[in-house]
Amino acid sequence: MASTKLLLTDLVSGVSHVPSSYIRPISDRPNLSDVQTSEVSIPLIDLQGLHGSNHSDTVKQIGQACQHHGFFQVKNHGIPETLINKIMRTSRDFFRLPESERLKNYSDDPSKTTRLSTSFNVKTEKVSNWRDFLRLHCYPLEDYVHDWPSNPPSFREEVAEYCTSVRGLVLRLLEAISESLGLERDYIGKALGKHAQHMAMNYYPPCPQPELTYGLPGHTDPNLITILLQDDVPGLQVLSNGKWIAVNPISNTFIVNIGDQMQVISNDRYKSVLHRAVVNSNKERISIPTFYCPSYDAAVEPAKELISDEQPAVYRKFTYGEYYEKFWNRGLATQTCLDMFKASSA
Ligand code: OGA
Ligand code: NI
Repeated sequence: MASTKLLLTDLVSGVSHVPSSYIRPISDRPNLSDVQTSEVSIPLIDLQGLHGSNHSDTVKQIGQACQHHGFFQVKNHGIPETLINKIMRTSRDFFRLPESERLKNYSDDPSKTTRLSTSFNVKTEKVSNWRDFLRLHCYPLEDYVHDWPSNPPSFREEVAEYCTSVRGLVLRLLEAISESLGLERDYIGKALGKHAQHMAMNYYPPCPQPELTYGLPGHTDPNLITILLQDDVPGLQVLSNGKWIAVNPISNTFIVNIGDQMQVISNDRYKSVLHRAVVNSNKERISIPTFYCPSYDAAVEPAKELISDEQPAVYRKFTYGEYYEKFWNRGLATQTCLDMFKASSA
């Protein structure tokens, strides 16, 4: 019988097979035995180095990571461990609430600024993803907090504190990244209009047949920069030289990745890299990405300083709102949206 459950969490408790709507065609499966696992898959950068005599070396490490990997991990990032533990606990508590309580936040409309949903975009996609997610807009806080879930009771206060702390980290990173591109330290911060910040709490239930489906299929992030917190269950994989590499969790570190807008501003110097989330048969997994973005009305274009005769502008000028709409409407496809904003196709 067809299920009437809106959320994966409620659909799958106790199933022994992946429902057919989650099964990928054979050519589009994770091939888990092909994935490389190495100790340090992407650079781990100590942000303590931004203060004091290691400053320029640390900026250089960040620039190299943005250019060659599109991904890096950070330690000594200034976000207290207690806050990290609290946000993880609160997310887990949220997804463990009774179905009726969770569903108060449900919506399948991507334009809603607070919503619980499932997969990626249930209105447009052909195959579903093994994920439920709560998505929140969170900057400026006072515009959105009143809309957030009020259960668990500590949710608003703790998530607000976390968002503020992560925003501080983002602003420090944007200065370092601007500097690494040879731009004024405040260049990128000033190129984002009024700024915007979204976050997601991704919940990936255990999956009886993880080789048939994805938590999230390969995609690039449409925003400027993403700061990902993951629990201790592996699942994130990054494409590097044509190979999928597992990024195994290191406690108290964040994973930073370059999004499409950074690729545009840097005029292709820095890369928005394909990544995906796979699931496993034993353990639930929670990840909490913060998506830092330009505001919708901000005009995004390659920095003038990075355009030359040898390196002409790769992208035309566009608004972030225009870009974001394209992203949600076409579904998560490995072909990035960036191709639609090339200067030559203007
Ligand atoms: C995302 C994402 C990876 C993960 O939400 O955009 O890439 O490990 N998540 O959940
Ligand atoms: Ni992503």
